[in-house]
Amino acid sequence: MKEGHFITFEGGEGSGKSTQLKLFAEYLANSGKEVVLTREPGATEVGKEIRRLLVEGDKDKFDEITETLLFYADRRINLTKIVFPALKEGKVVLSDRFNDSTIAYQYYGAAKFKNTEVMDTLYKVVAGDFKPDITFLLDIDVKEGLERSFKKAQGMENKELRFEKADISFHERLRNGYLELAKKEPERFIVINAAQEVSKVRDDIIKAYEAHQHKEERQ
Ligand code: TMP
Repeated sequence: MKEGHFITFEGGEGSGKSTQLKLFAEYLANSGKEVVLTREPGATEVGKEIRRLLVEGDKDKFDEITETLLFYADRRINLTKIVFPALKEGKVVLSDRFNDSTIAYQYYGAAKFKNTEVMDTLYKVVAGDFKPDITFLLDIDVKEGLERSFKKAQGMENKELRFEKADISFHERLRNGYLELAKKEPERFIVINAAQEVSKVRDDIIKAYEAHQHKEERQ
């Protein structure tokens, strides 16, 4: 089924991944690739409704199972409506967050599940054996990221702060969780220092991508 490439952007709050995803999409388009952008949660009309439930309101409005199920429902819609059809047409799909976000936020961050069994089972149901080809992890100090995030939200009437409102230890856990995931799968993850200037982060992403492509070609 899969002919194109699936590349995901991951990171904690204020890591700049949405900006970087757009810059990377420009770079790919300039090199002649057909690019499709998507995001989780909220890439489709139904997904937007699920996103509103998840990112607005009180931090404790759901239990961890309900929250996790909603993320996987949105993921299923993203895969079936956007990702799979685009890959079939040979396009490059860039997703602003994917499954690693659930492991980082709901497993490591919330620290309410004993292990990732629930996530692993749900992932199999919604995605089977499918996996991203490359995952860029934009890593940044938690305090710096949260400051960026709150600053951006000021005056924007941004109501999407449900996860930002969690205490600092939640964010520390999810950052370390992401880094642990990257260590477990070094062939898929590329960790980028996101505390640098936007243009430097962009260049690092492109350099790492080109090196990855050369390595693939040699294999
Ligand atoms: P965004 O602001 O990067 O679009 O993401 C929305 C929020 O949802 C963000 O705080 C991270 C959170 N999230 C999870 O907790 N689990 C997930 O699986 C995903 C995709 C996002």
